[in-house]
Amino acid sequence: MEEPVFETIVNRRSVREFTDQPVTTSQLHKIVTAGIWAPSGLNNQPWRFVLIRDKDTAGQLAAQTRYGRIVDNAAALIAVYLDTEAMYDPVKDHQAAGACIQNMLLCITEMGLGAVWLGQILQNKLRVNEILGLDSRYDLMALLAVGHPAHGNQQSRRRPLADFILKEIQGDEA
Ligand SMILES: Cc1cc2nc3c(=O)[nH]c(=O)nc-3n(C[C@H](O)[C@H](O)[C@H](O)COP(=O)(O)O)c2cc1C
Repeated sequence: MEEPVFETIVNRRSVREFTDQPVTTSQLHKIVTAGIWAPSGLNNQPWRFVLIRDKDTAGQLAAQTRYGRIVDNAAALIAVYLDTEAMYDPVKDHQAAGACIQNMLLCITEMGLGAVWLGQILQNKLRVNEILGLDSRYDLMALLAVGHPAHGNQQSRRRPLADFILKEIQGDEA
């Protein structure tokens, strides 16, 4: 494989069905390590994480989203937060959170695990904080459901590249 990062990017899929196989502490820590190596403005590293492998807590979180079945069946959950006291610019800090999350998704893919980025649960983010024992200093960005993929059937599509490139402005040397 000549371009392993590119291969991982295009082979990543949102995985919503998992086996019963557990995800280990060292696997979770590796995933979060990938997350914290994302770039951030001024290198302020505003991300924080709650790692969850407790069925009771997962059940309470599952009740906060219409994607509760995915939450219930995942071997592990990673709640991704911004620490509002570490933030310096809302747009840039949210961009950093996105980069962090994507780093984790790519690491998960490379490790042979699967995950889905759950955003719908943000509608109940205050309740999620209560469940996890966090105050409003921490602003929920996403919940990642992680586990061993039950199958490799996930399909995904993208529109053609030309749909997205507004212009190509190039000099004579291009
Ligand atoms: C900000 C954001 C929020 C998302 N929220 C959910 C969600 O709540 N439930 C879900 O099943 N998938 C969610 N997804 C996953 C998308 O549905 C998925 O990335 C998209 O359909 C493309 O599929 P792919 O990731 O397999 O390429 C979310 C993705 C992003 C980036």
